[in-house]
Amino acid sequence: MDNDIDTAIQSIEWRDDHVRILDQTYLPGREVYSDIRDVGRMWEAIKKLRVRGAPAIGIAAAYGFYLGIKELTENSFQSFFIEVERVAEYLESARPTAVNLHWALERLKTTIEAHKDKEISDIKNIVLKTAKTIHDEDKRTCKKIGEHGNELVEKDARILTHCNTGSLATGRYGTALSVIYHAHEAEKDIQVWVDETRPLLQGSRLTAWELMNAEIPMKLITDSTAGSLMQQGKVDLVMVGADRVAANGDTANKIGTYPLAVLARENNLPFYVAAPFSTIDMDLGNGDAIPIEEREAEEITHFNGSEVAPKKAEAYNPAFDITPHRYITGFITEKGIVEPPFDENFSRYLE
Ligand code: MRU
Repeated sequence: MDNDIDTAIQSIEWRDDHVRILDQTYLPGREVYSDIRDVGRMWEAIKKLRVRGAPAIGIAAAYGFYLGIKELTENSFQSFFIEVERVAEYLESARPTAVNLHWALERLKTTIEAHKDKEISDIKNIVLKTAKTIHDEDKRTCKKIGEHGNELVEKDARILTHCNTGSLATGRYGTALSVIYHAHEAEKDIQVWVDETRPLLQGSRLTAWELMNAEIPMKLITDSTAGSLMQQGKVDLVMVGADRVAANGDTANKIGTYPLAVLARENNLPFYVAAPFSTIDMDLGNGDAIPIEEREAEEITHFNGSEVAPKKAEAYNPAFDITPHRYITGFITEKGIVEPPFDENFSRYLE
């Protein structure tokens, strides 16, 4: 597909001297755009999921990093770089699981080191340019993921997806949702089952909103409906995104992904993870070492500001789970579909 698909959503944008984000905490009720001019506000936006989804967090962190280092007044490279590391560490502390955050910041730090002989003001400009490049590359990467993934989608496929992996979560198009956009654009008669995705409802608030804007047939389900739909033969394919993939293919994604993978196996359904190579962490041999973000109990004990659990009820709220690689049929990446054995095949693509 040569032409761009108009998903009409720009979740993050660089504007002259600041970043504009579509604040995802207000969706689907209101489209609120917020201008971010300093690194502290960017940290807060990432932490509070105003901007979210692994690739989008990487892009946001890259712009946030520039906002942080642009104010630095150090004159020598050495003292400048000490502060640069501090800014990167600070941003990285916002959310631990999605490796794209770390990946983008490492790339920017390496770029700075490669230009250590230049004036510091020039280095700052190079950082902004690289942040824009990371953003542009993600748009192209997501388009490729959509094109490759489309080859796996039958003409009348019923696809089940979890969380939000669309334009909101990336530079554009998304990962698993990019496949869905591309299949729809190719005039396939697809139908999407959208998991609501407890507790923050990325499925019902964000994915349903994106798909309805694009006029793609979809139905919202509670997370616990997925198994029964599969059992009744109403799902052909499960497709999700990823926050971090270990070298062996073990995958961290939104909590509730692992049970979907087990259910897919039980019901003989293909289970695909769509993710760019920037989400693959070849430094981790398997999923055991992936840090899992734990969020406030209030996200479970309250709903829309109202209590839905007894006062002082204790709650456990991990934001992600790990799907062992043996449940994953394949990875849909910008370089193509990667099949098992994943460790060998990832390495081959990276050569
Ligand atoms: O907590 P979130 O909303 O940032 O979690 C997002 C997900 O789990 C997505 O599935 C993942 O980041 C892939 S986005 C293309």
